[in-house]
Amino acid sequence: MFADRTDWNLAPNRLSQALDRHRAAGKPLIDLTVSNPTECGFDYDHQAVLQALSNPAALAYEPNPRGLASARNSVADYYAERGANVDIENIFLTTSTSEAYSYVFRLLCNPGDEILVPAPSYPLFGFLTEIQDVKLVHYPLLYDHGWQIDFHALQQAITTRTRAIIVVHPNNPTGHYTKSRELEQLNKICNTNDLAIIADEVFLDFSLSGANSNRSEGEFPSSGPRHDTFAVNLGALTFTLSGISKISGLPQMKAAWLVASGPASLTAPALARLELVADTYLSPNAPIQLALPSFLAHRHHFQSQLVTRVQGNLAELDSQLAVHSGVFRLAVEAGWYAVLRVPATRSDEDLALELLQSQNVYVHPGHFYDFPASGHIIVSLISQLNEFAEGLSRILATSFVSD
Ligand SMILES: Cc1ncc(COP(=O)(O)O)c(C=O)c1O
Repeated sequence: MFADRTDWNLAPNRLSQALDRHRAAGKPLIDLTVSNPTECGFDYDHQAVLQALSNPAALAYEPNPRGLASARNSVADYYAERGANVDIENIFLTTSTSEAYSYVFRLLCNPGDEILVPAPSYPLFGFLTEIQDVKLVHYPLLYDHGWQIDFHALQQAITTRTRAIIVVHPNNPTGHYTKSRELEQLNKICNTNDLAIIADEVFLDFSLSGANSNRSEGEFPSSGPRHDTFAVNLGALTFTLSGISKISGLPQMKAAWLVASGPASLTAPALARLELVADTYLSPNAPIQLALPSFLAHRHHFQSQLVTRVQGNLAELDSQLAVHSGVFRLAVEAGWYAVLRVPATRSDEDLALELLQSQNVYVHPGHFYDFPASGHIIVSLISQLNEFAEGLSRILATSFVSD
C-alpha cells in the first residue's frame, strides 16, 4: 500500500517513552532541550506582530514564483545590513527552511543521489533527504581546538552520485561557523566534482563572540570565526537558506527563503528551474509575505534578548563548571545550544534516561545529533535563567560513574 520511503520505524525510542510516562505521571520536569522561542518568556511586540498580518493588500492575489517583491526586498535589506548585496531575482520565498531544502534537493538530485551532511548536526536531515528519495551521507566534523571540517574524510565520502555538500553556518548544536579557509576548500572541491553548496544560516545572527572563557575545552582557531553569509559566495553554485523561525523568533509564521549564488553559468539555469519548482506550489501565503518586512524588523528586539539570555546561561554554566571537575563545555561561537563533554562511562541515552528519572531534567543525548562517540549531552541555552541554573546543578550532582 505505502511507498518504501515512508517505511519508518515509528516506535518511540526509550527516552521519548520515558518522557511520555514522566509527563503522564504529572512529575515535575526541567526541560533543557527547549528550542521553541515562543515558550521561553521573551518579550514580543504582540500588537506589531498581529497588526502586520492584517494588511488589506492581502485581499488581492498576485502569484509570483519567487514571492512578492516587497517581501524579497526586505530579505535583500537583511543581507545588505550584513554588508552583502543580494539581487532579489536570486531569492525565492518558502514557508520554511525545510521546504527550501526540498526545492534544492528536487533541483539537484535524481532518486538515489547523495548529499553530504555534517556530523554532528541537525537531526532532521535524515527525514528531509529520505522524503525526497535522496541518500544522506555523513562527513565528520572534528573537535580539535574548536570545530572544523575533516576534509580528508569529506573527500573520501564523495562518489559519482554526490550532488551537494550541506554546511550549517553556524552549526546546530556545535555552534561553530565555517571558516574562510574552509569556504575556499569547499569551493575548490565543489568545482572539481560538480557539486553545489547548501548553506543553512538560520543561526547566522546569533554570534556569541567573547563567550569562551577558561572553562571551555579548546579555543578558537587563530583565523577566528567567519560570520559572513554564503549568500554572496560566487566560488561555487551555492544555495543559502534561512528564515524567521530563528532570526526573528517566529517559527509559527512559516516564512523562509533560499538565495542562489555562484558562477552565472550555473546560477542562471538553477534560477530558471527553481522558478518552475516554486511556481508549481506557490506556497507562501499573501498575509505572511506582506508581513515579512515587519517580522524581519522585529528581529533586533528579539535577538538582543536572546543573546543576553544565552550569554547569561553560558556564564552560569561556566561558574558551575568552575567548581566541578570532569565535565567541560565545548567552545561555542554562536547559536542556542551548548555541548557538555561528560565522562563516557555509559551511553549518552542511558545518562539522559537517568537524568530524567532521578533528577527530573531532560537533556538531549549526543547521538541524537550524530555525535560519533558517547560522552556528549546537549543543553539549550535559551532556557529561562533560573530553570537552566537549577537543571544544570542537578546534572552536575549526578554521579558520572556507572552503577
Ligand atoms: C539547522 C536548522 N535548520 C533549519 C531549522 C528549521 O527551520 P524552519 O523552521 O525554517 O524549517 C532548524 C530548526 O531547529 C535548524 O536547527
